Amino acid sequence: KKVRLAGISGSLRRNSHNTAILQTLQERLAADVALSLLPLAELPLYNPDLESPELPAPVAVFKQALQAADGIVLCSPEYNAGTSGVLKNALDWASRPANASPLKGKHVLIISSSPAFTGGARAHAQLRETLASTLSRVVVHPPVVVAGVHEKIKEGRLVDESNVQFALGAIAALVAELRP
Ligand code: FNR
Repeated sequence: KKVRLAGISGSLRRNSHNTAILQTLQERLAADVALSLLPLAELPLYNPDLESPELPAPVAVFKQALQAADGIVLCSPEYNAGTSGVLKNALDWASRPANASPLKGKHVLIISSSPAFTGGARAHAQLRETLASTLSRVVVHPPVVVAGVHEKIKEGRLVDESNVQFALGAIAALVAELRP
């Protein structure tokens, strides 16, 4: 059976490095694994008042896509030593209701990237903490961080082969957790 993964880029930027990484992985995955990118641009800022009587349509679509996915791949930039507000906002929407959310029990791979040599490691760590709070399962794998990312993206694709292979290995670890 095909494994269906949801990919979420933490950047809305047209030429986002993080979106480019996900697009590269999407093309390089094994034939029995599919990665669909979920757009965040239409999600409003989280406000509990908007959860009833019914969710805003883009939020409902987003949460249904997460619910239907076998696993999730996040690719985050680092903004001021944390993840982007865009991604945190999306995770906050997805995390409700706390004990029956689409994130609960879901296997999630975290990838971060940055032009800096730290590769967004602090955003990575912050996401791990946030995901623990949502009762999701962070994939057991050494952290996938892409450092110096601005020099590794060419024409919208990640061209550093060792980074690509390391990230594909992490996705293979995610898939192995889903198919024990
Ligand atoms: C940054 N950037 C950044 N990088 C980093 O390694 N650590 C940081 O704390 C920050 N902080 C930060 C704050 C703000 C407001 C901006 C705009 C940028 C640089 C950031 O990683 C870089 O712009 C990435 O390329 C953004 O990701 P996308 O849009 O290419 O996916």
